[in-house]
Amino acid sequence: MEKLAVLGGEPIRSEKYPSWPVFDERDIEAVTRTVISGRWGGFPYPGPNTAEFAVKFVEMQGGGYAVPMLNGTITMEVALRAAGIGWGDEVIVPAYTFQATAYAPLVAGAIPVLVDIDPDTYCIDPQKVKEAITEKTRAIIVVHIAAQMANMDLITKIARDHHLIVIEDSAHAHGAQWRGKGAGTIGDFGSFSLQSAKSLTTGEGGVLLCKDPEMAQRAASIIDCGRPKDPEGVQYTMGVNYRWSELHAALGLVALERFPEQLKQRELMANYLEESLSEVPGIKMLKRDLRLTRRSFYRYIIKIDPKYFGCTNETFCYALKAEGIPVDTGYPPMNQYELFQPSLSKLPVPSAFPEYFDFDAMSFPVAECAKWRESVWMGESIFRSGEEGVDDLIAGLNKLVKNRTDLNALNLNT
Ligand SMILES: Cc1ncc(COP(=O)(O)O)c(C=O)c1O
Repeated sequence: MEKLAVLGGEPIRSEKYPSWPVFDERDIEAVTRTVISGRWGGFPYPGPNTAEFAVKFVEMQGGGYAVPMLNGTITMEVALRAAGIGWGDEVIVPAYTFQATAYAPLVAGAIPVLVDIDPDTYCIDPQKVKEAITEKTRAIIVVHIAAQMANMDLITKIARDHHLIVIEDSAHAHGAQWRGKGAGTIGDFGSFSLQSAKSLTTGEGGVLLCKDPEMAQRAASIIDCGRPKDPEGVQYTMGVNYRWSELHAALGLVALERFPEQLKQRELMANYLEESLSEVPGIKMLKRDLRLTRRSFYRYIIKIDPKYFGCTNETFCYALKAEGIPVDTGYPPMNQYELFQPSLSKLPVPSAFPEYFDFDAMSFPVAECAKWRESVWMGESIFRSGEEGVDDLIAGLNKLVKNRTDLNALNLNT
């Protein structure tokens, strides 16, 4: 039996998985053209590249009115502000997501109310959403995490019953579809990140999709220092400069050309992976909900059975990484997240409503189990590495299966 690489054996894979982002002459030409045009900035907003990107993004995602801006965090802040959500309002947020999802309500003056996730999908648990609703609740932010989508049928119903706004944090879900409808086009708002790791990227950037054209006008006004965007040009808002640059938008137009083929390729490889994964003992996939009619692969999560392997996901990832397979244990629950520290800020909300921020008193058993026991996250590059790259991942997993006694010993030592 081959020794684990972490114990000095030969790693399964020595070659790196493909890097991201990818580029070619088209990116260089698009940026060069923009540089020569002299129109680099966003003002007056939107510039020609940004306006064209907005139209094409809507076509790609399948609906809404797109307002491009600086990143996929302020998109959510702007959505809340456009919807009139602010001081003292409660916004329900999943406890398992990047810190941005909980940060956005805070800077809009609202209170993020954390709830646990569904163990089958790792997306927000609709039952927990219902339980968290109070007379102060104004919005739900769902996160379509790692090739999954939140149960939009139930979330939409709950929101309708309680007159709540729904924001879909779709930072992981470019191109994904629920019952044939694009992520971010089902709720009132869809928030997208174009940050450099994302499966559609321009280095930095964000897009807010709005269902209602008036909301899109308000959002566009908020990000352009409050300038009116209604047809009559009379409705001012309290705004700020969150405009996107034309250089980023130039990259975005090329990224959109490439994206459909990349989406297909990643899905093809993910299907190939899943055929083999189902045969690896001790490994489970998240649930494949058939209403998720098109999946998008930015991150992909599998669950390990810690009892079978005699170790938790941390040791498992440590050993698999040593085999040349890049994996990690993913997001911590928000109340234990080193990147989310409202009490260390002088933001007004945590000072005014300290009762919402007693993180030690909070418990999110599913998110905790995901982070500290079961989940193994992998990046989209595995799905661009051809069958050979996916085969290496499977070989790595099978090697850990065979060597699980050693994993158990490692677990005790870490
Ligand atoms: C789920 C989620 N939401 C929001 C964001 C924030 O996007 P950005 O980095 O563009 O602000 C990210 C980015 O990592 C994310 O993963």
